[in-house]
Amino acid sequence: MITSNESLTDDIHRTLLTLYEPLPLGDRLFVRIRLLLSNLYQLERYVPREGKILDIGCGHGVLSNLLAITSPQRQILGIDIDAKKIAAAQRTIGKRSNIQFEVGDAAFLPDSSFHAVTIADVMYLIPPDTQRAILTSIACVLEPNGVLVWKTQTHQPWWKYAITYTQEWLMTKLGPTKGAGLFFMDNEESIQAIRTAGLHPVVVPLPSRRPYSDILFLGCKS
Ligand SMILES: C[S@@+](CC[C@H](N)C(=O)[O-])C[C@H]1O[C@@H](n2cnc3c(N)ncnc32)[C@H](O)[C@@H]1O
Repeated sequence: MITSNESLTDDIHRTLLTLYEPLPLGDRLFVRIRLLLSNLYQLERYVPREGKILDIGCGHGVLSNLLAITSPQRQILGIDIDAKKIAAAQRTIGKRSNIQFEVGDAAFLPDSSFHAVTIADVMYLIPPDTQRAILTSIACVLEPNGVLVWKTQTHQPWWKYAITYTQEWLMTKLGPTKGAGLFFMDNEESIQAIRTAGLHPVVVPLPSRRPYSDILFLGCKS
């Protein structure tokens, strides 16, 4: 039986896929696979329903679009270093005014302030010292009571981590993901990095039947 929550997610899923209809088949397939393999829907509830949201490393803009369609009161800016992905994401905007995409590097954040910053499956593509510097910059651009929503991968359980690592290695070496290498921090390092940046860390496990060691860190600004 379909519960109302499930049918709501189905509606959102359909709306999201419709946005990608103008794109070539390769991009549409990529987006479908991304949605199948990732827990992006689980992140939405941690993002404020209104205000300015920065989505760092937005790729094709799947999470940015999900946040924009689930609440029109959100103003989303998605940035990514990959100009091709940003061009694809820009083609999903249509007539909507609550979403924008720009080429941009996580190491150089826009000169603006945000009520939330999301960063999903991006940080581990960046060397640890730069990750720490980025967390500090995120803390600076967050409004008081703003929140960092950081999805990444933990080292446990080892077999899920091994699958995650292998897949991401293939995606960066042979596939479409741009990045400086693979630098998964363990949970304690991540929590400490959030704290050092001046945010209050909260760990949210993301259990699922998928073979990935997904985890969510929140960083709350007082
Ligand atoms: C695995 S994809 C995740 C995309 C998107 N966040 C999502 O959840 O669908 C990783 C993305 O991070 C981007 N990326 C890697 N290094 C980056 C950096 N220094 N600044 C901005 N984006 C970066 C890549 O171009 C890629 O689009």
